Amino acid sequence: MVDKIKALLLEVENMSAANADELEALRIKYLSKKGEVSALFNDFRNVANDQKREVGKFLNELKESTQNKINEIKDGFDSNQGATEEIDLTRTAYPVQLGTRHPISLVRKEICDIFNRLGFSIAEGPEIEDDWHVFSSLNFAEDHPARDMQDTFFIQHNPDVLLRTHTSSVQTRVMETSEPPIRIMCPGRVYRNEAISYRAHCFFHQVEALYVDKNVSFADLKQALLFFAKEMFGADTQIRLRPSYFPFTEPSAEMDISCNLCGGKGCPFCKHTGWVEILGCGMVDPNVLENCGIDSTVYSGYALGMGIERITNLKYQVKDLRMFSENDVRFLKQFESAT
Ligand code: DAH
Repeated sequence: MVDKIKALLLEVENMSAANADELEALRIKYLSKKGEVSALFNDFRNVANDQKREVGKFLNELKESTQNKINEIKDGFDSNQGATEEIDLTRTAYPVQLGTRHPISLVRKEICDIFNRLGFSIAEGPEIEDDWHVFSSLNFAEDHPARDMQDTFFIQHNPDVLLRTHTSSVQTRVMETSEPPIRIMCPGRVYRNEAISYRAHCFFHQVEALYVDKNVSFADLKQALLFFAKEMFGADTQIRLRPSYFPFTEPSAEMDISCNLCGGKGCPFCKHTGWVEILGCGMVDPNVLENCGIDSTVYSGYALGMGIERITNLKYQVKDLRMFSENDVRFLKQFESAT
């Protein structure tokens, strides 16, 4: 009987099946009730008692090997079948989930690209500043309301450590450390102690531009502003300058553009005036030049500053400023196609 078992073990070891039907035939041949392995188990009772132990061991081994071999062949079928089903070379690839640029980043880049074409390069400065760079150097009087705790975030109750309230601080840093001609733009985040609402936030973004050289005039400023407005809002855009006041510029102005929604005819967006305000500007006050070590009898300059959120609102009609910092992907995804 042991010889028979050994012969079957060899047979089982070498068996193969081309398909599921053949495999089933093999299973029936060896393992079914009338199969060869089962027949040997039936004969087992005739084995002499002193040999039962050894023969039983062989018999169990045979049954186990047969079952294992059948499973092995079956697994081979399954994984082959899986492979032919999964690999379909004609199928399109899964779309890769791409993120989108934040609208503020998009508009900041657009503003900087326009000024870059006029020869301005980017300068950056710290968000945690001192009084000199944010206020004193820029001609703010000691008692100017902007220094008030209401507007400015001071750090650790130290009046000389504060979060910058505007990017004009970068003007001072650049003028202190370089010689004219200076032609820079300063994009960045600024902070003000405001109650958060749909039209105000405690932080927002600005871009500042500064040009200092010999013979820089208000006409140069106006030309740069007109170029910017047309590039940003379209060739039909018109600008108008209104007299204004900033401590660091003299004369100072605010610039309006013809309403980009109604084309200047008047609509609720421009409060039926046909104009919307977009930035502040002016000729750099000689005191500021002197504060930064630049001879105001030789050099003059212009400066301008705008809020990026404001420009973004005009471009994309975002009504609520808070949308920009809520990280709601349903909002952010809408800027997918913007460049
Ligand atoms: N710093 C001003 C603000 O935060 C904006 C500004 C106005 C910047 C006039 C300028 C300027 O450079 O000339 O409101």
